[in-house]
Amino acid sequence: MKKNFIHPYNIIIFGAKGDLACRKLIPALFQLEKKNFLHKNTKIIGVGRAIWNYYEYVNIIFNTLKNFYKKPIRKDIWNIFKYRLSFCNLDVCNTNQFFILKKMLYHELNDNIYYFAIPPNTFANICKGLGKINLNTIPNKIIVEKPIGTSLQSSKLINNQLKKYFQEEQIFRIDHYLGKETILNLLTLRFSNFLFYNNWDHTTIDHVQIIISETIGIEGRWGYFDQIGQMRDMVQNHLLQILSIIAMDPPKKIDFHHIKKEKIKVLQSLRKIDIHNIHTNTVKGQYAEGVINGKTVPSYIKEIGSKKYSNTETFVSIKAYIDNERWNNVPFYLKTGKRLYDKKSEIIIYFKKVPTKLFDNIKYNHYSNKLKVKLQPNEGIEIEFLNKVPDINSTFKSKPTILQFNYKNSFKKNISEAYERLLLESMKNNQSLFVSQNEIEVSWKWIDSIIQAWDKNNMKPELYNAGTWGPESCIQMIEKNKHHWDHH
Ligand SMILES: NC(=O)c1ccc[n+]([C@@H]2O[C@H](COP(=O)([O-])OP(=O)(O)OC[C@H]3O[C@@H](n4cnc5c(N)ncnc54)[C@H](OP(=O)(O)O)[C@@H]3O)[C@@H](O)[C@H]2O)c1
Repeated sequence: MKKNFIHPYNIIIFGAKGDLACRKLIPALFQLEKKNFLHKNTKIIGVGRAIWNYYEYVNIIFNTLKNFYKKPIRKDIWNIFKYRLSFCNLDVCNTNQFFILKKMLYHELNDNIYYFAIPPNTFANICKGLGKINLNTIPNKIIVEKPIGTSLQSSKLINNQLKKYFQEEQIFRIDHYLGKETILNLLTLRFSNFLFYNNWDHTTIDHVQIIISETIGIEGRWGYFDQIGQMRDMVQNHLLQILSIIAMDPPKKIDFHHIKKEKIKVLQSLRKIDIHNIHTNTVKGQYAEGVINGKTVPSYIKEIGSKKYSNTETFVSIKAYIDNERWNNVPFYLKTGKRLYDKKSEIIIYFKKVPTKLFDNIKYNHYSNKLKVKLQPNEGIEIEFLNKVPDINSTFKSKPTILQFNYKNSFKKNISEAYERLLLESMKNNQSLFVSQNEIEVSWKWIDSIIQAWDKNNMKPELYNAGTWGPESCIQMIEKNKHHWDHH
């Protein structure tokens, strides 16, 4: 077994009964237990308004693991894990009740990690409550989830509330995409391989596509989602994080400050989208009824809990430009939506076409090499390039062929889940995989301008049938530039 080197912590999960805690955090902590990354004195304290005793909570966590931990639950691991658990009945809106939590933590010498797996409108109260019991000082830390706010103004407000009680070095803002092995590998891919290092700008790259598509709909969270929409839920964070890593200049060092500095430069250079270019550079969509995996699914406005009418987008596509020397006029096409044809997260880099037409092969005279980074599923990388079709006659007929890398075959091991890595990094006090306040604010500034332009132009979402790749205009937007979406 690996040496247990992590400091002992109390990991306090506010919102212990919620979706995030059950689907992601508990399975990730169990996996860290299995890998022997939790100190023997580490405790996990769930917080919520439920009234559960120890035995009820342990039972609930066991069932949670049965539902969401994708591997068999090893009995020996469970027998260690269950003794770390306890539950604190606490309504965070009542800051006087935080003394109950203090009592539970009092006899422990551990530092505290507070995970805010709870709606953002409770953050201010939690900070206040923790301040009241004097458990907000260094080395205690908080982990907060995206989206931080719904606009530049509201994200500033939330950050100010956090900063009243915690210093920047104590705040870990999660965008779980940054915990993905495949995203981290972008740094190695770009900056360790001369092949890519030297071919990564407007002279060699024609355009970039970043696609995060889901087949699921709203999953019973209509009320929440309708206030937010796909732009705030997915583009402001995941897509812009991916874009900034793909587009940034080499950082001086692979550490938090240097990477953050380069990412911010990219976000600041994004060409503004406002009322003048909103129609040519964005598509806003909403799903209508359709068929997914052979099953008919309802339209967005017929989902459970919906109102009869909504202007909220379940689909966004953007043609973005980065106005700096490296990316001069290279389009970055972003696309994300719910109830689409397939579930995948991919980055596709299209290289320029060769300037000569040496081969008498009309079909591929306009061919672009493709580098595809598959973030999920089937994580890996593919390079598509032309090869001569074998033939005894020297005809030089060519065909696109694919060179493939995938983790399972090359490393013979499974890659870690994002939340597992991010929880571990927070325990190591390493902020490099977390998002800074500046990054969030610069992204909101760009997103706010688009949303304001949608509102000013009273832009309604264009309907698309569930089970397709989105609205027609999304295809037209890219085809205007003589490009095509990478769908098979
Ligand atoms: N779900 C995801 O995959 C996901 C992904 C990224 C980000 N997030 C973010 O993570 C946060 C939580 O999301 P979620 O989906 O887990 O929400 P959720 O399923 O609604 O769970 C929120 C939990 O907060 C607790 N809570 C609410 N008010 C409380 C109060 N006054 N005192 C104590 N507990 C209270 C509720 O527990 P009780 O009712 O038992 O008190 C509930 O279990 C949100 O900010 C969301 O934007 C979620």
